[in-house]
Amino acid sequence: MSILEGPLRKAHRLLAPRVAYLIGTRSPSGEPDVIPVSNATSVSTDPQQVLIAVMKRWTTHTNLQHGGGFTLSVPTSDQAEGVWRLGARYSGFVTPDNATKLVASGLKFDHAASEHGPVLVTGLGWLSCRIVARLDLGGDHALAVGQVETAAFDKQAFDSDASPQRDLNPLMQVTGNRFTTAGTSYTLPYHAPR
Ligand SMILES: Cc1cc2nc3c(=O)[nH]c(=O)nc-3n(C[C@H](O)[C@H](O)[C@H](O)COP(=O)(O)O)c2cc1C
Repeated sequence: MSILEGPLRKAHRLLAPRVAYLIGTRSPSGEPDVIPVSNATSVSTDPQQVLIAVMKRWTTHTNLQHGGGFTLSVPTSDQAEGVWRLGARYSGFVTPDNATKLVASGLKFDHAASEHGPVLVTGLGWLSCRIVARLDLGGDHALAVGQVETAAFDKQAFDSDASPQRDLNPLMQVTGNRFTTAGTSYTLPYHAPR
């Protein structure tokens, strides 16, 4: 491998592609918001906890500071245009308010499934999480850790043990406005019985 010494401020671009999850929240007055967030990962399986990183200048950050939790939905690659619209302040999609943005995304949300925010009805699944930690590490993003209270999986894609039944096609952001999805999956044998 010949090494290109890249710009330090673009280092995060090596951590790609990443799934573009949808984070649902509510404002203190109850207005729902849904935005794509690729800075998200599982940080505990017992209990189930997920970490998200959200820019401090976004409305979602304010909602996470005041609200008790958030939802995380997993869109499929054919929902890219709707997800791009939901990332309005990044993609430049202009609407008068978030309610209009959600409708204009063309994606279908359930507003009653979680008290924390809307969930995507037609994706690979969704989580409803109660915030158990908020972290400010001094950067431009703030972190929220959510403990999963409800998990919903698309029955066409997962079996009763939440194992994928087929290749999944989550929407993944490479960087900026470049997207991809996962390829064909395969298995390796375990080296010892589990
Ligand atoms: C694919 C994609 C991934 C994104 N990932 C993040 C992220 O991980 N963290 C973040 O703070 N913003 C991320 N954004 C930007 C926000 O989604 C976007 O600026 C949004 O409009 C903020 O809206 P709000 O002010 O209503 O919260 C992403 C945008 C896109 C399109």
